[in-house]
Amino acid sequence: MNANDATFKEIISHSKEYGFIYPGSELYDGLGAVYDYGPLGVELKNRIKAHWYEWMTRVNDNIVGIDTAIFMHPTVWKASGHVDAFNDPLIDNKDSKKRYRADVLIEDQIEKHLEKANKEVTKAAKRFGSDFDEALYRETNPRVKKYIDKASALRQRFAGAAEANNMAELKQIIEDEKIACPVSGSRNWTDVRQFNLMFSTQMGSVAEGASELYLRPETAQGIFVNMLNVAKSSRLKVPFGIAQVGKAFRNEIIARQFIFRMREFEQMEMQFFVRPGEELKWYEYWKERRMQWHNSLGLGDDNYRFHDHDKLAHYANAAADIEYRFPFGFKELEGIHSRTDFDLVQHETFSGRKLQYFDPETQEKYTPYVVETSIGLDRMFLAVISSALREETLEDGSTRTVMALPYFLAPVQVVILPLIKKDGLPEIASDIRQQLAYDFAVQYDEKDSVGRRYRRQDAIGTPFCITVDHQTAEDDAVTVRDRNSMTQQRVPIGQLTAYLQPKLSMVDAWKQIK
Ligand code: GAP
Repeated sequence: MNANDATFKEIISHSKEYGFIYPGSELYDGLGAVYDYGPLGVELKNRIKAHWYEWMTRVNDNIVGIDTAIFMHPTVWKASGHVDAFNDPLIDNKDSKKRYRADVLIEDQIEKHLEKANKEVTKAAKRFGSDFDEALYRETNPRVKKYIDKASALRQRFAGAAEANNMAELKQIIEDEKIACPVSGSRNWTDVRQFNLMFSTQMGSVAEGASELYLRPETAQGIFVNMLNVAKSSRLKVPFGIAQVGKAFRNEIIARQFIFRMREFEQMEMQFFVRPGEELKWYEYWKERRMQWHNSLGLGDDNYRFHDHDKLAHYANAAADIEYRFPFGFKELEGIHSRTDFDLVQHETFSGRKLQYFDPETQEKYTPYVVETSIGLDRMFLAVISSALREETLEDGSTRTVMALPYFLAPVQVVILPLIKKDGLPEIASDIRQQLAYDFAVQYDEKDSVGRRYRRQDAIGTPFCITVDHQTAEDDAVTVRDRNSMTQQRVPIGQLTAYLQPKLSMVDAWKQIK
């Protein structure tokens, strides 16, 4: 059997056709970078959420959940640094009127230099065959070296400008590198200016008395400000974690690539509070465990990699991304950051209240250090569907579209199909549907031939199709078809739950995580 991965365009259209994801407000021609999850999308999203949240809070005995408000006191965002520094540098092309992130234009240019070096290396590898020493060639070939040096000089200049918040220098880099607008092809740029990514709104009825609030750009701050409440009410001892799934909002300048970068999205964040001095040990621990969590989904270990940050934010003493191979390349899926005591100390300073924990073991009071794991739920959804959707050519030469989702994430877990719409088969099938509905997400389908119904279920990723045929009335057994292998097995109706349960449970995945 041959399988071809779907293209990004196919993933987007499949998502809409089968009710996974619709463009937001489509009736009014859509709203930029806002999406709605359809009936199957919401089921899949809830399962991904459960796989994260329940593993965090059930399997780990020292992590509890929380659900904090989207609106927070405006000073929270002063303290966290978002009011002053949660900015993207933007630039407009005067001819195309298109807006870009200046940092993205420069990063793309760095990539271009590196691509040129890679092309030279690929050509040489072909020329020299098995004798080729890539590392040596990269170090010694003048043309390759020229491109690599250009990329690293540009990276250094860019890092300096970004750190100093020097917008004029960013513009100068764009001009010196002769970066052109991809739409108009011109280099007629405006100045670079800072653009804060937080959405603001008013609380209160009259404009004068109203105070400006922000829609939270991350869920983490709700955890920080509740750290002591949670530690006390749940009688937690350091180290402990607080996990939260919730909406976040960012006024992204370039929001594209479907649900990869949205203006309204969901985060799954966990802040792990530890003793000062022990944070790097826990950082390594969480890096490893989070990668294991990803691998437990079975999307292919090769599709993930770590990207350790060389340049750290001023509050972090270690940081890494888990990147996933999306259809448009390796990109950040999750961040793991050792954030020191920065956030808690900022909140102590701005609120005038102590956020200290009394450690009964050391008999000391201290402000805990924090290791954060932060993953975008929508990005995880995109990773799952893009790894799953494929076109398979079967042995008889026919093709099928299949969403090879991990079984425990499938939005419809079991479908019941009466072979035909008469002879009492629909009644038996309805009874089975009802019996299984308490334990599984089930559907009933009697329309079209069984073959077509199988194809429809393959396209939405249903792991098991149960067919009720004439023999069922005699032997009280049904045929269970497995989505991946397409093999069929006769199972007594009374044993269906026991047969399906272990195959559809999340627990096996959790047990792989050490
Ligand atoms: N509290 C840390 C924090 O918010 P971040 O790297 O800005 O860190 C964490 O965001 C994760 O949230 C990212 O790794 C990504 O998966 C997701 N994310 C961030 N911005 C997003 C957006 N505009 N659309 C969808 N997901 C986003």
